[in-house]
Amino acid sequence: MKFFLDTANLDEIKQAASMGILDGVTTNPTLVSREQGKFKDMLVGICEVVNGPVSAEVVSTDFDGMMKEAHELAALHPNIHVKIPMLREGMKAVKALSSEGIRTNVTLCFSASQALLAAKAGATFMSPFVGRVDDISGVGMDIITDIRTIYDNYGFETEILAASLRHPVHVVEAALIGADIATMPYKVFDQLFDHPLTDIGLQRFLDDWEKVKDRVS
Ligand code: G3P
Repeated sequence: MKFFLDTANLDEIKQAASMGILDGVTTNPTLVSREQGKFKDMLVGICEVVNGPVSAEVVSTDFDGMMKEAHELAALHPNIHVKIPMLREGMKAVKALSSEGIRTNVTLCFSASQALLAAKAGATFMSPFVGRVDDISGVGMDIITDIRTIYDNYGFETEILAASLRHPVHVVEAALIGADIATMPYKVFDQLFDHPLTDIGLQRFLDDWEKVKDRVS
């Protein structure tokens, strides 16, 4: 499973990248709005830190507008993947962009039928938003299960990018189902490392080592 960070914060991205296990970054207009600086400079800065896909979202909702923005974003850096919303015009744009070799990430997906459309349009990634379905008393992870089955049934190459992940269990569940990628806030990435028994066990080892350290050599 690939790990992406869902943030536009360069400090968080640098911190995760320094671990050597960061595979990419996803951004969206909300995440960008939380940071200082110009959008395109921000994206180039992220691409210089991350050796992998960086998703940047268009804000147009018509075909021509999305295509114009997509070309501008894709020209910024080879790592850019253009995030296109799950709209009728959006799928037209994804089809056109994929035929040009521009990689895409279909966003705002909440159903298996939308995932089927994204794959047929040739999306590189499709992003089901798990947490937002949970927020309205649905079971977001069930959508990932259905999409995995459908994509495997037909050999679609579109990768499932589990998004809107809110806690480590979401990441583990997505991995068990076989999502290709999990994108998560830095907080969730950091939480993946923690277990109280690790802390307790380490402390016990260190305490016991104190008793024998004079006999090491
Ligand atoms: O980037 C898309 C998605 O991960 C957003 O997550 O927490 O705003 O629902 P959230």
